[in-house]
Amino acid sequence: MQLDIQHIIYLLASVTFILGLKMLSNAKTAKNGNLLAAGGMVAAIITAIVFHEGEVSPLVYGLIFGAIAVGTIVGWLTAKRVQMTKMPELVSLFNGMGGACAALIGLVEFHHNVGDSMSMTVILAGMVIGSVSFSGSMIAWAKLNGKIKNAIRLPKYNILNTLILIGLFAYGAWIVWTGTGSELHLYALFAAALGYGILFVLPIGGADMPVVISLLNSFTGLAAAFGGFLYGNQVMLTGGILVGSAGTLLTLVMCKAMNRPLFNVIFGAFGGGTEAAGESGPQGNVREVGPSDLAVQLNYSKKVIIVPGYGLAVAQAQHVIKELETILEERGVEVTYAIHPVAGRMPGHMNVLLAESNVEYDKLKEMEDINPEFAQTDVVLVVGANDVVNPAAKTDPSSPIYGMPILDVENAKACIVNKRSMKPGYAGIENELFFRDKTQMLFGDAKKVLTELVTELKALD
Ligand code: TAP
Repeated sequence: MQLDIQHIIYLLASVTFILGLKMLSNAKTAKNGNLLAAGGMVAAIITAIVFHEGEVSPLVYGLIFGAIAVGTIVGWLTAKRVQMTKMPELVSLFNGMGGACAALIGLVEFHHNVGDSMSMTVILAGMVIGSVSFSGSMIAWAKLNGKIKNAIRLPKYNILNTLILIGLFAYGAWIVWTGTGSELHLYALFAAALGYGILFVLPIGGADMPVVISLLNSFTGLAAAFGGFLYGNQVMLTGGILVGSAGTLLTLVMCKAMNRPLFNVIFGAFGGGTEAAGESGPQGNVREVGPSDLAVQLNYSKKVIIVPGYGLAVAQAQHVIKELETILEERGVEVTYAIHPVAGRMPGHMNVLLAESNVEYDKLKEMEDINPEFAQTDVVLVVGANDVVNPAAKTDPSSPIYGMPILDVENAKACIVNKRSMKPGYAGIENELFFRDKTQMLFGDAKKVLTELVTELKALD
């Protein structure tokens, strides 16, 4: 009877994970989806504690509830306080903690299963993958917050990493094969896996971190699934598999939207980020526009499309852009937003940013839907975006972004690009769009110039 209740709750919790994940795919249902899955997780944790078989001392209960309380408070406060631009860092940190848990399960359970090849394989696989995910996520976190500034590449790092990976597999297989219960070997494998995680992420460019974090996320899911398999715990198994597969899919979706094979992200040198991108100067002449002239131009437009990019997030200009939208709409201008799938630095970056300033979700148009509309648009206002509007992706086979689908802003009657300088974006390449006849550059920090634009528009009353 007790077992039945336990299994039923585990089943229901698994269902909440699946439904929650489904609901996360739409901004309107995402929050409830998150709460639903979190509720399922709480139920699963309580069930695991309440229905645990065998004696548990009050001290152990104290430790369990103490750890849950500390984790809940720290997690809650950090998630509440984090700025949107720091979100990938937080995800990386939380993901690392998941990997560490999976690794610790391996360290604790190893001794109870020496001699049982199947269990030893599952334990060591979970420990190694969890350790790689933990140390790799910590490096990703340090890169994103600037503690590690550049991609560090040892000589022949790709060959070295591949050899270490093969060595890890071989060492783990040897431990299982010999059935040794030696702590020395266990901890040596643990240390080697931690080392591999560091060496795996160190050479990858800072701006490629979202893709790497998503990949490490799938590793953590896999490691947790091994834990679920070991304990015969269905909800842990389901949760782990869902995280593993969702992380893998997200990684592939991101790579596809950037038109870069995953192999290239991990082993290629592209994507050193704006900080590593170099400062190539302007080629040819660009036309500049100031806030007052642009205000007049926008005032007489019928249809305006705003293209937000990474610079919008940097400038935290989401509120002023909403103000601009409101003023234009009051004057009968139709305003929509064109959202490129990899605009910004994390999946859904622009959607989340604009939702913060209460931009209606229906106004955010995906690339495939908005591209045919540019030709009927009076003004496209590109704010802090660069690569996602670079025509070289369509025209220049030698460009590193060739083949990446882009927003066809050049089809509009006029294209205004706001950025602070002529420096390149994430891919580190020139953008020929800036030099075209229909393009005008609005130089300056997005928040500052858009605020000036709004003031000028108000003055036109
Ligand atoms: P980017 O190509 O990185 O361009 C952003 C532009 O914003 C820069 O050229 C920069 O120019 C400008 N900028 C920076 N701060 C600004 C500020 N305060 N005010 C105004 N402008 C500012 O961005 P994008 O077009 O959004 O493209 C995203 C890139 O990131 C793509 O190449 C994509 O593949 C990559 N990426 C995305 C993801 C995800 S999941 N979104 C993950 C990994 C990589 P200035 O310095 O001259 O101002």
